[in-house]
Amino acid sequence: MKTAKSNLIVACLAVFCLPGVISAVAADAQQRKDRLEANPEALANWRNLKFGLFIHWGPSSLKGARISMWRGRQIPIEVYDNLYRQFNPVKFNAKEWVAVAKAAGTKYLVITAKHHDGFCLFDSQYTDYDIMSTPFKRDVLKELSEECRRQGIQFSTYYSILDWYQADYLPRGAGDKRPTEGADLDRYVTYMKNQLRELVTKYGPLGVMWFDGEWDKTWTHERGLDLYRYVRSLQPNILINDRVDRDRDRLRDKSLAGRPKLGEYAGDFTTPEERIGEFDCDVAWETCDTIPREWSWKPNDVLKSRKECIQMLVKIVGGDGNLLLNVGPMPDGRIEPSQVERLKEMGRWLQMYGESIYGTRGGPFPRGNWGAATCKGDTIYIHILDPKLETVTLPPIEKKIVASSVLTGGTATVKQTQQSITVAVPENDRQEIDTIVVLKLAGVK
Ligand code: GLC
Repeated sequence: MKTAKSNLIVACLAVFCLPGVISAVAADAQQRKDRLEANPEALANWRNLKFGLFIHWGPSSLKGARISMWRGRQIPIEVYDNLYRQFNPVKFNAKEWVAVAKAAGTKYLVITAKHHDGFCLFDSQYTDYDIMSTPFKRDVLKELSEECRRQGIQFSTYYSILDWYQADYLPRGAGDKRPTEGADLDRYVTYMKNQLRELVTKYGPLGVMWFDGEWDKTWTHERGLDLYRYVRSLQPNILINDRVDRDRDRLRDKSLAGRPKLGEYAGDFTTPEERIGEFDCDVAWETCDTIPREWSWKPNDVLKSRKECIQMLVKIVGGDGNLLLNVGPMPDGRIEPSQVERLKEMGRWLQMYGESIYGTRGGPFPRGNWGAATCKGDTIYIHILDPKLETVTLPPIEKKIVASSVLTGGTATVKQTQQSITVAVPENDRQEIDTIVVLKLAGVK
């Protein structure tokens, strides 16, 4: 009797509930598509990587000038547009670049497939203004993407929506005298889509399609949505940054009134530039910044110090963001040795303390002048960035702290009350860059 009853229950579940479950799953996927949401697993995986290498490179490095800045102002247009004829980076070695990325502790790489100047670092069948028309004639993206795959670095491409070179793109850059008659932005969008398809199919699967150059008034929200959907249709688990849409600042605005809801705006993460993003556990974000001052190579550029680079990474990860740190390789194809050294210094630090960075989330404590916190499972990492501080006072948490240690060596005294947590590290155990105190919590998996 009992068995018959349970059989009946199972049968009822199968008839009434299971189709419901299946259709709920399908509906969820459909809804995600409509709401412009990334594949949650791909987004979570990317967030866990924390640290990526950005590369800005192209024929403009021959001039040591800023890549694609102020059309015609730094370098006359005819000169700039013909630089590719001399671009011959014979010392380019994908294996070495990726080895540097690995030694730095970065887990993904984003390279300028096409910057605002329109030059393509890849072999494109849709334009001759590409790497195959230079004396070098080697597909940089092919070599680099294959090497990334070989060495276990996620490969991604930067792609500028605005384009100085394509006659169909509008508006013209200041100083560009070409007539606009006959130019057709829709045709340009088709060109873009063709190239994006090339990027995904020839060099993919990609981690991220990293757009930029969306600020001209011709780029509308509707065009942004359409492009987002198109790229997603090429590779369902690809991530797309906020610059695919216009008005990137709206998504960052945390005031309830201004911030669009997920799905009202295209873009899976925001991209604060040359600044540490706000603490934000709701919307994924990635700060992009450069080791030197310029994005592309400039001789004798000033580099950020080891301390600045490491503390920037810690503050970003403690704010629940990722860091995409840029280098601009030289015109001969090498990454400047001083920048390689800086990256390796970061890598050496990460080798020792990477457990407090990779795979963590920001918090649970907000950042302060003392530093930042990261957490993973039952562990909180307190990163004390000011070695002068004798004690750090943090807000209370519900879970009980059952153990503490100092990852960077030495001891710490941790006191937990209902009002606060205090962490004190004796002077000799404080580090110049980051003293990392580890707290273990009870009852957390
Ligand atoms: C700035 C630079 C541009 C670079 C971008 C990266 O806008 O001008 O060259 O590609 O930052 O975020």
